[in-house]
Amino acid sequence: MKQVLVTGGAGYIGTHTCVELLARGYSPVVVDNFVNSSPVALDRVRRLTNHELPSYEADVRDTAQITDILKKHNCEAVIHFAGLKAVGDSVARPLEYYSANVIGTHSLLTAMIDAGTAQFVFSSSATVYGEPVFLPYTETHPLSPTNPYGQTKLTVELMLNDLIASGAMTDVAILRYFNPIGAHESGMIGEDPHGVPNNLMPYVAQVAVGRRPALNVFGDDYDTVDGTGVRDYLHVVDLARAHVLALNRFSRAPGPITVNLGTGHGSSVLELVRAFEQASGRDIPLNIAPRRPGDIAAFWADPSQAESLLGWRAEFDLADMCRDQWAWQSQNPHGFSAS
Ligand SMILES: NC(=O)c1ccc[n+]([C@@H]2O[C@H](COP(=O)([O-])OP(=O)(O)OC[C@H]3O[C@@H](n4cnc5c(N)ncnc54)[C@H](O)[C@@H]3O)[C@@H](O)[C@H]2O)c1
Repeated sequence: MKQVLVTGGAGYIGTHTCVELLARGYSPVVVDNFVNSSPVALDRVRRLTNHELPSYEADVRDTAQITDILKKHNCEAVIHFAGLKAVGDSVARPLEYYSANVIGTHSLLTAMIDAGTAQFVFSSSATVYGEPVFLPYTETHPLSPTNPYGQTKLTVELMLNDLIASGAMTDVAILRYFNPIGAHESGMIGEDPHGVPNNLMPYVAQVAVGRRPALNVFGDDYDTVDGTGVRDYLHVVDLARAHVLALNRFSRAPGPITVNLGTGHGSSVLELVRAFEQASGRDIPLNIAPRRPGDIAAFWADPSQAESLLGWRAEFDLADMCRDQWAWQSQNPHGFSAS
């Protein structure tokens, strides 16, 4: 049974990945400072899987504590989700983002080298690409992020490339996520952002349960199918499974990889809202608002490298994503806080 440290394991993608790891014989150990999550989420994973799940309230910037945890559990791999992820917030608070995302990853890598933990899976993002030069984005598309959040992800990618070149680490998987939505089909875990949601889907779901009056649609005059922004939404369970496949690959074919994780299809804001209305049976009132500065009209992934290197491809469609998002939101209208 392979022990895997999962940083940020109480968060949205982290909890779903712990479920998939446990289902496939891995033993995750969670570290989280709960800045954007709740310990209740980990209890839900334990209940859902009927497995033990050791966890520590710790910050990835505490190198000594992370080294101790890696050594104590003989971790062979780290999946690194911990970090801050809100684009708008990163413009307002760049130093916090560089601290959590860049200094945090530096600290974690230092701890891994000290503890002799060799395998690293990193949560990168499609935001590293920036304004599209061509679509779909392939992994070779120029990297030119348009906001501090994306800059922190690119900085970590560059740090990892230098570390690989130095020979200090070779088994590194950089996973560039597109737009994960949805939830585990049980409805027991899902995305529960603190404060006002920054992402579209949790906002839509909170409107559907009556926590917010209406959805603001930022721009309806883009050069897209219906004028609203287009993104490549993928089911969080599909995304979680890619992490298990990345770990499997290290045993089969050691060495670094960088892959896009998306479906390869874009959906507009209005298409997503209509699909969610269909799944939930609720109306989503809309306000059309001006474009937000820095927003990109449309982008989606070329996910073919994930298929050839990991054997991964997205299985779920938009209707599945909306059904499972609604299962989570309707069973947990106030997220984990009411538990
Ligand atoms: N959700 C997305 O749309 C998306 C897209 C691309 C990339 N990503 C990246 O994937 C990762 C996971 O995203 P998520 O959606 O699950 O976010 P999330 O906020 O739900 O999870 C991140 C977790 O990390 C924890 N955390 C933050 N800073 C920490 C620190 N210094 N030490 C320890 N724990 C810390 C938070 O409490 C939270 O539980 C992030 O790195 C994010 O940037 C997310």
